[in-house]
Amino acid sequence: MHICVVGTGYVGLVTGSCLADFGMDVTCVDNDTAKIEMLQSGKIPIYEPGLDALVAKNTAAGRLHFTTDLPSAVRQALAIFIAVGTPPKEDGSADLSYVVEVAHAIAEHMNGYKVVVTKSTVPTGTGQLIEKILREATGGEHAFSVVSNPEFLREGSAIADFMRPDRVVIGARDAQAVAIMKDIYSPLYLIETPFVITNVESAELIKYASNAFLATKITFINEVADLCERLGANVHHVAKGMGLDRRIGPKFLHPGPGYGGSCFPKDTQALADIARRAEQPFEIVETVIRVNERIKARSIEKVKAALGGDVRGKKIGVLGLAFKPETDDMRDSPAIPLVTALIEQGAHVRAFDPAAMDNARPLLPQQVEYTENAYEAATGADALVIVTEWNQFRSLNLSRILELVKEPIVVDLRNVYDPGKMREAGFTYDSVGRAARDLPPE
Ligand code: UDX
Ligand code: UDX
Repeated sequence: MHICVVGTGYVGLVTGSCLADFGMDVTCVDNDTAKIEMLQSGKIPIYEPGLDALVAKNTAAGRLHFTTDLPSAVRQALAIFIAVGTPPKEDGSADLSYVVEVAHAIAEHMNGYKVVVTKSTVPTGTGQLIEKILREATGGEHAFSVVSNPEFLREGSAIADFMRPDRVVIGARDAQAVAIMKDIYSPLYLIETPFVITNVESAELIKYASNAFLATKITFINEVADLCERLGANVHHVAKGMGLDRRIGPKFLHPGPGYGGSCFPKDTQALADIARRAEQPFEIVETVIRVNERIKARSIEKVKAALGGDVRGKKIGVLGLAFKPETDDMRDSPAIPLVTALIEQGAHVRAFDPAAMDNARPLLPQQVEYTENAYEAATGADALVIVTEWNQFRSLNLSRILELVKEPIVVDLRNVYDPGKMREAGFTYDSVGRAARDLPPE
């Protein structure tokens, strides 16, 4: 079966290369010529573990192609996946202009029955919009089905999330489209992956509701962490005690500097906007959005407090810039407001991130210095701040850090280290939600 995937960003490129790995003939289209030329020369424009090998293997097998020529890709495909960006607009609603542009391009070049699949996260009702565009633009000349097949890929584990998903969600109106989608995902069907077959609107809402719930769960534990600091409790013990309840579960109960990324901030805003437009405000999601902003701001307060209330003239080492480890993605990273505020308040910032520094440069004040490794960032620092929990920051040579820093102050926003051990090692150490000092030995 011939598949076309439009958009070769995180979602499109992972989707295209995984579908090719399922044995289908996949053509990935993008309007960014430079990106397509990179892909044709075997280079991957994004940092996603394992993606380079997967693309190389399937390109060599002749199952995976890259082009800017959307018309020919549409004509030869039976199923066309739309995986272009749906970034937030000023008012928080999802910008569907790219999706609409692609829908018109598909309509223009249809040469027979097509299944048009929205893989991008799109507001409930977008399926109807695409149907309207296709119907009006083709004048009813060609039959088609519009399907919602949302992705649940986490950056840094996107291939595993595609190949071993918790579920495949298919929203469609007709049996033919469902049959074709099951055919496309037959390798997952065979390993008994649960399929949720529903209508388009429910499938579109499953995606937003899932992301908003995950963002809510993270924000919940971040507020619990703040409370732990005031009550002398330990947030990891509280999270463990909560998570052992199978109705709650241990995942996504890690406190930190607030959620970021290309999805949670965008999808919570979009869901709140969808609900407002439906005159049914989603109050919990609106609160989560607001509280996450406060959580991000508390990181700045923590660093200031660690430096006696004023960062002016202080040298601050920042470890990690990406919104999470194993990615180069800086979209809505909590590091952005933190580093910007530190610079604005007169600090000197030296930052290191294993993958995201190139993407970070245009997003951070130009005064920020970038270093080759964590130890350089620590050299001469009045405080060292851990913002992203890259594995390499989990086993730093602490005695070397102690020699390099000017002041032995560490603010650990991801609770990478143990408070007792850090104090024993000679650091003044702050983290998130672990003020308790009277913990019994485990
Ligand atoms: C994004 C959103 O983050 C995600 O929530 C949504 O589900 C899918 O779109 P991502 O892959 O990260 O996922 O998008 P992005 O990194 O912005 O890449 C989109 C790609 O589509 C870009 O390469 C862009 O050049 C391309 N594009 C955009 C087109 O090919 N045609 C267009 O008209 C617009
Ligand atoms: C998320 C969803 O997990 C995925 O299903 C969806 O398809 C896209 O959005 P992603 O944004 O790549 O994936 O990263 P994720 O691992 O979910 O982390 C999102 C943010 O939450 C990051 O900033 C991360 O640091 C933060 N987070 C996550 C926490 O602060 N605590 C946690 O316990 C988990």
